[in-house]
Amino acid sequence: MELGLKGKVALVPASSKGIGRGVAKVLAAEGCKVVVSSRDQDSISKARDTVVKETGNKDVYSVKADLAVKADVDRLVDQATSKFGTIDILAYNTGPPKPGTFADLTDVDWEQGVKLLLMSAVWLTKQVVPQMVQKKWGRLIYITSSALRQPVPNLVLSNTVRLSLAGLSKSLSLEYGSKGITSNGIMQGHILTDRQRQVAKDISSRSGKSVDEAMKQMLQDVPAGRYGLPEEVGYLVAFLASEKASYINGTMLSIDGGLMRSVF
Ligand SMILES: NC(=O)c1ccc[n+]([C@@H]2O[C@H](COP(=O)([O-])OP(=O)(O)OC[C@H]3O[C@@H](n4cnc5c(N)ncnc54)[C@H](OP(=O)(O)O)[C@@H]3O)[C@@H](O)[C@H]2O)c1
Repeated sequence: MELGLKGKVALVPASSKGIGRGVAKVLAAEGCKVVVSSRDQDSISKARDTVVKETGNKDVYSVKADLAVKADVDRLVDQATSKFGTIDILAYNTGPPKPGTFADLTDVDWEQGVKLLLMSAVWLTKQVVPQMVQKKWGRLIYITSSALRQPVPNLVLSNTVRLSLAGLSKSLSLEYGSKGITSNGIMQGHILTDRQRQVAKDISSRSGKSVDEAMKQMLQDVPAGRYGLPEEVGYLVAFLASEKASYINGTMLSIDGGLMRSVF
C-alpha cells in the first residue's frame, strides 16, 4: 500500500533513541523529511546519522531541545520550519517522567511532570496547527501510553498527567476535523527500549528479582509473548499520518500485543 508520505515534513520530538527514533526511522523510510530532537546534541546528532544510514534518506535534521522548556519547544519548531518550510505531521513523543508513588513525589516533580507530559504537547500543537490550517492538511499524533487505560504501578505521574492528552487530542479532532487535520493518539504497551530496561531495574531493586526475571515478568500479561519494537509503533504512526487514514479522527489506538483486557 502506497502511503503517499513522500515529501511530507514530520516532527518527531524525543527521538535520540527508543520509540521516537523508531518512529523517525519509519517515517524517513517512507520518504518524509524528518526533524528529530532530544536534550543532548551529541545523542541527537548520532540518532540523525543512524536514521540517514538505515534509510538512505538524507532529509533528516536534528535539533537540541528540552521539551519541558517552552523556549526550547518554540525554537525547535522555528528551526524545523526554517529547515523544511513547514510541518505537516506532528508525531508527538516525549521523555519518560520521573517514576514514583504518590508518596514519593514532590510538588516540583508534579510541576515538571505536567510540563514534560502535557505542556510540551500544548506548546508544540499551538505552534504547528496554524500552518496546518493554512494548508488544510495536517496530522496530529500523540504517542502516550497504555497507562491511559490501566495505571502502571510506581508511575503515578504518567498515570495521571498523560490522561489529559486523550482530552486534548479528542478536543482537537472536534475543533479541526473540518479543516483537513486529524488528531489521534497511540497507547503503547511494553516496547523494547532503554525505558523498559529502566522499569525492569526498578522492579528488580524493589523485588529482589534479577533484571532478566523482571523483564520476563512484564511479559506475563502480554498474549503476544514478546516486547513490541519501536519500529512497530512507527508503522502505526506512518499509517495514521497517511492520506489513507484521513477518516480516522479523534481516536486512541492501542499497540500492546493484547495487554489490555477490556473489550473497548
Ligand atoms: N517503552 C515503553 O514500553 C513505553 C510504554 C509506555 C509509555 N512509554 C513512554 O513513551 C515515551 C518514549 O519512551 P521510550 O521507551 O522510547 O524511552 P527512551 O528509550 O528512554 O527514550 C526517551 C527519549 O526521550 C528523550 N528525552 C527524555 N527527556 C526529554 C526531554 N525533557 N526533552 C526532550 N527529549 C527528552 C531522550 O533523549 P535525551 O535523554 O537525549 O533527551 C530519548 O531520546 C516516554 O514518555 C515513555 O514514558 C514507553
